[in-house]
Amino acid sequence: MDLSQVFSNNKKWIKDKLTNDAHYFEHLGQGQNPELLFIGCSDSRVTAEELMGLGPGEAFVHRNIANMVSAIDLNAMSVVEYAVVHLKVNHVVVCGHYACGGVKAAMQSADLGILNPWLRNIRDVYRLHKTELNAIECEDKRYDRLVELNVKEQCVNLIKTAAVQKAIRERGIKVHGWVFDINTGKLIDLKIDFESFLEDIREIYHLD
Ligand code: CO
Repeated sequence: MDLSQVFSNNKKWIKDKLTNDAHYFEHLGQGQNPELLFIGCSDSRVTAEELMGLGPGEAFVHRNIANMVSAIDLNAMSVVEYAVVHLKVNHVVVCGHYACGGVKAAMQSADLGILNPWLRNIRDVYRLHKTELNAIECEDKRYDRLVELNVKEQCVNLIKTAAVQKAIRERGIKVHGWVFDINTGKLIDLKIDFESFLEDIREIYHLD
């Protein structure tokens, strides 16, 4: 890859934006008011804004390996706190994707060094849903299902946070679990009933 191309692409992008709206960058410079927090995988084939057809300013984005929401990840927790409490987004999305290398790695027995503790969070999702997953004979289907269950569990992790619990109660914020099908480009809504999850875990995880 010739990186000088990146800078000529950038020049063209600026020109295109200014052709449509001469004040485009002035507006961007005035601040952000995104409605959506998007937590996705760092996979190079998965985009955030592009696959949703959104532009700059419309989504607050956090990406990491296998779209995890870990309570001891200062980065993810800060993003959630900032987006929910300060930017006051109305929607929080965890978006996984089929053919996720992180999820695949967690299904295999291999020592991957510093990746081990990260991937162990996904192994924990497998353990939690072992009966359902082990009943799926086809390995590819089991893999797809673990991608979906991982999204679900990361949504549950989101509603374990005080910021999200409070925002659900006070202003009806919504939590969504989606999967991006890398083979077709389709975005699938897993239609996660996060309110009943909150009800389910309230006894143990309720914070305010
Ligand atoms: Co991935």
